[in-house]
Amino acid sequence: MNLIFLGPPGAGKGTQAQRLMRDYGVIQISTGDMLRSHIRQKTELGAIAERYIHDGNLVPDDVIIEMIKKELDYSDLENGYLLDGFPRTIGQAVILDKMLSERGDRLDGVLVLDVPKDELVKRLSGRRVCRKTGKSFHIIYNPPTEADNINPDDLYQRDDDKEETVLRRLNIYENETKPLIDYYKNKKVAFKIDGTGKLVDVYKRIQNVLDTLLKTENLKAN
Ligand code: AP5
Repeated sequence: MNLIFLGPPGAGKGTQAQRLMRDYGVIQISTGDMLRSHIRQKTELGAIAERYIHDGNLVPDDVIIEMIKKELDYSDLENGYLLDGFPRTIGQAVILDKMLSERGDRLDGVLVLDVPKDELVKRLSGRRVCRKTGKSFHIIYNPPTEADNINPDDLYQRDDDKEETVLRRLNIYENETKPLIDYYKNKKVAFKIDGTGKLVDVYKRIQNVLDTLLKTENLKAN
């Protein structure tokens, strides 16, 4: 299954992607994680991206496209993939369509996580990320458990989760990324999912959508 996770900053894309990888075997391709890794490794691309991310702006399309192309070419994607944080502009979506058709890949679904703005601000301001594993938690809603085996000293707040930057990211989402919902609705692949409530309840709603998609696929194959 090839999927896109669409939704505003803090909607829970990264958190739910962890479970989807475990249960459906899809590979998460997160442009945010890839960019942060470039910054940590002090690559040329990281140097370009750092200022944009710090200020809460989008990294230019050409930089992102180049990075995604490489990832799709070199990763083992036999069980499908989940694009998390890409595309984020109509320009990126148009180029993704072209890449998919060149690869002979079909886009099975676009999962649109819907969460109101005041909730997003609460989620992002309480998010803490583990320096070692990259996993994200929330100081109140999703604190690390014993099973996570996290040293509290390894948890940090993302630079772009400061309130002022969060508001800018949310604005950019409204203007640049939200129009993609209609783009994919027109292609009849968008599924709106209520992203509020407990993590497990959101996950169940996502599973319902994916299980329906899988059943339809099996029916087509038989
Ligand atoms: P990126 O890292 O992709 O950030 P984002 O899209 O803004 O998404 P987030 O990671 O903030 O949120 P999320 O939906 O994954 O939420 P999470 O699961 O962590 O991108 C960062 C930057 O990189 C961009 O601003 C841009 O500069 C650049 N970039 C990336 N891709 C780009 C592209 N394609 N083009 C151009 N630039 C690009 O959850 C958030 C918090 O909420 C956590 O604390 C979590 O524990 C908690 N939580 C989750 N679910 C629930 C729940 N149900 N109830 C309560 N709390 C919850």
